Amino acid sequence: MSRIVITGASGNYGRGLTDLLIEAGRAADLILITRSPDKLADRAAQGCTVRYGDFDKPETLAEAVQGAEKMLLISGTRVGARVVQHKAAIDAAAAAGVRHVAYTSFIGIDDPANPAEVRHDHIETERLIRASGMAWTMLRDAHYADAMILMAGPQVMQSGQWVSNAGEGLEAMVWRDDCIASAAAVLLGQGHEGQVYNITGPELQTFREVAAIMAEVTGRPVAYVSTTDEEQYAMFDAMGIPRRPVDDQSVAGIPWNSDDMVSFGRAIREGFLQVCSDNVERLTGRKARSVRAMIEANAQMLRSA
Ligand SMILES: NC(=O)c1ccc[n+]([C@@H]2O[C@H](COP(=O)([O-])OP(=O)(O)OC[C@H]3O[C@@H](n4cnc5c(N)ncnc54)[C@H](OP(=O)(O)O)[C@@H]3O)[C@@H](O)[C@H]2O)c1
Repeated sequence: MSRIVITGASGNYGRGLTDLLIEAGRAADLILITRSPDKLADRAAQGCTVRYGDFDKPETLAEAVQGAEKMLLISGTRVGARVVQHKAAIDAAAAAGVRHVAYTSFIGIDDPANPAEVRHDHIETERLIRASGMAWTMLRDAHYADAMILMAGPQVMQSGQWVSNAGEGLEAMVWRDDCIASAAAVLLGQGHEGQVYNITGPELQTFREVAAIMAEVTGRPVAYVSTTDEEQYAMFDAMGIPRRPVDDQSVAGIPWNSDDMVSFGRAIREGFLQVCSDNVERLTGRKARSVRAMIEANAQMLRSA
């Protein structure tokens, strides 16, 4: 069986994916890359190969990808400055004879007018992958519902306010676990070369509608407060959230930077993320789960925030 190398294997996405691939009986075929192999000692104990690799040290990736036939490149966390990191992984994979690379990209990136800061990283990384000579599959994930319900949700519940510059823009937020299951289907299945998959939730909604669902399910008030980009920046500044990304840092449970989040809100408001597809069901055989289902599954956590 072909070996699969995964970057970012210690993160939320990488851990979920590794669980699915181990469940599928592929532990011995997995090569997991991390800057801290100690973090993945449990995976080594499960029979996976754990290797040191750092996006910022290309020579370490050249070693780390050896022997793999497929790679899942999980995008890094340094939003706005990731292309050089991803290039190191792509070059290493191509040089080592990796045949097929799948990449966790993002929806709505074809339109150059899309103001989301993440767009540049993803479209440029896709371009490098297409030019690499390897077969490829682009997994264009929508906004994770986990980010808004599980990470930002507690703060929303405490204040009773969902403050956003996304206005009345529509998006189909997706469970990260559905993105992970779709990636597993691509890595374990056949015929996905040359495909671009939008991986989204089942329905388009505004944040105002999601805030109303939160209020209904938890029985607590949640008002949707629409702000300007400047007001949104001021709110994040007051929380101490940096404007530019800082590696491995999170503030109030939020690991992102405000240039990313404000440009993201604007992209939603202006309709660039208004994408809904049934690819989760096509790839995994079961329907994408809804934002309401995530709120219901976490109602107790949200109520007690
Ligand atoms: N669609 C969305 O709404 C959305 C939301 C959030 C994130 N994302 C994307 O999904 C990706 C995965 O999210 P996640 O929650 O799994 O992230 P996470 O839990 O923060 O994990 C980040 C991973 O990146 C690795 N990493 C960071 N810097 C690295 C470097 N210099 N060299 C090698 N590896 C490095 C870390 O590995 P080690 O520390 O072990 O080296 C870690 O495994 C994110 O990076 C982002 O691109 C998308």
